Formats: sequence, structure tokens, C-alpha cells
Amino acid sequence: MLGNQASVRLYLLPLLQAIWPGFLPGQYRARLMSASWQTPDMVLLRFNVSSRWPGFVPGQHLLLTLTHNGRNLSRPFSICSPLSLWQATGQIELCCKVSQSGSFTPLLASLKSNSVVNISAAQGDFSWQQPAMPALFIAAGSGITPIASMLLSQRHWLAPATLYYRVRGTENAALLQRLQQLAAQQPLFTLHLSDSRFEHSDVFTRQIGTAANNKQLYLCGPSAFMQQLSTALVQAGVAKGDIFQEQFGPALPVLAGGDNSGQHQVALQHAAGNKVFTASANLSLLQSAEQQGVNPRFGCRIGVCFQCVCDKVSGQVRDIRSGALSGHGSEQIQLCISQPVTDLVLKQ
Ligand code: FES
Repeated sequence: MLGNQASVRLYLLPLLQAIWPGFLPGQYRARLMSASWQTPDMVLLRFNVSSRWPGFVPGQHLLLTLTHNGRNLSRPFSICSPLSLWQATGQIELCCKVSQSGSFTPLLASLKSNSVVNISAAQGDFSWQQPAMPALFIAAGSGITPIASMLLSQRHWLAPATLYYRVRGTENAALLQRLQQLAAQQPLFTLHLSDSRFEHSDVFTRQIGTAANNKQLYLCGPSAFMQQLSTALVQAGVAKGDIFQEQFGPALPVLAGGDNSGQHQVALQHAAGNKVFTASANLSLLQSAEQQGVNPRFGCRIGVCFQCVCDKVSGQVRDIRSGALSGHGSEQIQLCISQPVTDLVLKQ
């Protein structure tokens, strides 16, 4: 059983958590130093991060995990502060959009000073590729966060960079003051605000299309906005290779190779009663279970919190992230990142 398990720490987790409450394998502690509202729905949180945290490249994001009612919940957030802040003080800032009807961000916004959370190592490859080339940055709403970090981290300006920041009025423009200050100090940086209440998206897109000539483009915003803009830019002749975009959340790909179209029977032995459900080969076991009214334990849904761990008694699964196949025997798996390859017997 041990030989089938990807991480021995999973076996030791209950013991480690008894010794260090809140401990999560592969995560780092971060202490909240301050919180301030940037806009009516965006809060700026400053954390002192563990000295073991490996650092970040401006533009990257991390997963922040909160423990609530005994469950670990995780969400991705971009770091919005400059690299120099972390280098000088060991602190980073996250600017988070708070959705009052959500289950995570209201908890985050109500954290008290000195609260401790877990963060992952920084992730993602959204970064300023070639600062020596003219660049156009386009941010909409909370998409400003990774872009602000890139711009505010830049020490040696080599070529012009322009930011088009599209928001519903300046009152909803997070980090605006810092960016205005940068524009006032750095002659190679230009800031344009586009008020989405008054400037139609077609006009904005045409403006970007004209400004995009011979520049690298960095886009971050709601996916519909990015999709529409990048399609228009490619149609206007911008090379796809010159467009860089940030995308949050787990990618749950349909993997190439193997049979991804099949359905498998899953017998889930649960304290609340045994259930049988049909799992699709191209969905996570957690998704298939929920679609059929079976509600296993879960937290982050992205393989970080280990809340969805269960014992696989028999059968084979594939790790969605790496494509690695499990053995056929007894071992522990995470439902949110496992797809069935055969029929399964599970216990949670
Ligand atoms: S739900 Fe968090 S690891 Fe699966």
C-alpha cells in the first residue's frame, strides 16, 4: 500500500496536524499583517510569509488555504505587490475581490490581524517576458493584480509600456493610486483608464487593436473579456505568440491517449451509507459523484487540501494533473484530481 502512495506525508497527516494544528503538506504559513479596502469589493491583504517560502516571479499566483469548520478551503490569488516588498520585508500583498454570496472570500475579508493561513508556492508562467520590447498591458477589473505586480516590480525600464485598465469608474479601480504614482515617476510608462460605463467594448477593442502594433500583449481579466479581446487581436493581425494571458483555477484536461470516453461504476463505502454511481472517464471522481447526488467530503477541489482523500480498495485511477496511472490495489487517492480508468471500490 505504501508503495502505491505518492506521498508518505499523506499517511502521517493526522499525526502532523495533531502536533501542528493547521499543518498542510507542501504549504507555507502566512500571517495577516493588515487589511484595507481598495474599492467597495476589493480588499488588500498584506501577509508576512514563512522564511521557507521560495519567492515569486511578478505575475504569478498562489493558492491560499483557510480552515473553516474543520474543512480546508483553497482559492488562487495573484500576488499584487512588487518583488522589492518581499525582498525587503518578507511580506506580500494580495488584492482579493470579495463576493458577498461566495463561500470563501467573505471569510478571507473577515480575517483578523495576526490570523495565520496556508499558502502554496507561487505558480504560473504569466510574467513579463521581454522587458526590452515595447509592451501593452490590458487589465479588466480584478485582472489588475498580476499586472500591477509586474509593473511595480520593474526596476530598469528598457522600453515603453502602456497599461489599459478597464473598470466601472475610478471608485472600482483597485491599486490605481500606485499605478498613477508609477506613471508620474516613470516616463516610459503610460496609464489609460477605460470606464466601461461610458466606453463601449467595441471602441475599446479597436483602440487596443491600433495600439497593439509590434508589441507584446499581456491580458488579464474575466475569461469572456480575454476571449473576445484576444480573438479580435488575432483577427487584427497580432501574432498569437505575442499574446500572454493569465488564467486561474485548475485545468481539468481531457487527456490525450487512453479511453477518455468511458463510464465506470464506482462503489463508495461511506459511514453515512454505501453509494454506487457512474463516473465519467473525463471528469474527476468528485465531479461525477456530485452530478449524481453523492456528496463526498471536499475542500479546495484542486488537489491541495487533502479533504477529499479516500481509500481506493480496488481499481485504477489517473492523476488529472500529471496523467500518472495508479496501481490496481489498495492505496489513498484524492477524488478531486483523480479520473477513473476502471471500475472502482472506494471508502471515505
Ligand atoms: S478537495 Fe482539496 S484535495 Fe481534493
